[in-house]
Amino acid sequence: MGFLPTVFAILVCAGALSACDPAPPPVLKGIWEGIYTDAQAKRGENVYAEHCVQCHAEDLSGDTPYNPSPTLAGKSFQLRWENKTMSDLFALARVQMPKDKPASLKPKEYADVLAFVLKANEFPSGETELPGDARALTKVKIVRHEFVP
Ligand code: HEC
Repeated sequence: MGFLPTVFAILVCAGALSACDPAPPPVLKGIWEGIYTDAQAKRGENVYAEHCVQCHAEDLSGDTPYNPSPTLAGKSFQLRWENKTMSDLFALARVQMPKDKPASLKPKEYADVLAFVLKANEFPSGETELPGDARALTKVKIVRHEFVP
């Protein structure tokens, strides 16, 4: 920015702070840098218990007697999602889950329950919450743990 545009921006902003303070784009981090908070995962645990556990099981193994479903934690889950993005995962959950009542939760609830899934997969938590918006997650690639063979 040259001198004049800078002065102009300062003058405009001084008069109307809100106009110069749009919501900043979310800072995109990698899946290993803490993309959800512990408090969010805790909320997500409640969402899970209410809407997902009957099919995906308490330990996320998917090993349920009447509704056997894919596991949401551990090696096979992470291998399935390797090189896809958090946006893909969010979109699937948001559009198709709960399988018996698709798209019935709020975006924030999907974000919370995915935070719980990330925690169960032992990805680190951080300072900012996972946003409830697939578009904000397109650059967050899923990079699995190194599993000991
Ligand atoms: C009624 C049973 C049922 C419920 C409830 C349910 N799911 Fe599922 N889920 C499934 C089945 C079955 C699949 C396999 C894909 C399919 O058949 O659509 C699946 C697939 C998934 C997948 C993709 C797994 C993969 O690796 O391919 C995710 C993620 C998921 N569910 C998350 C959730 C979340 C989060 C909830 C709660 C908000 C939930 N599911 C509730 C049955 C269920």
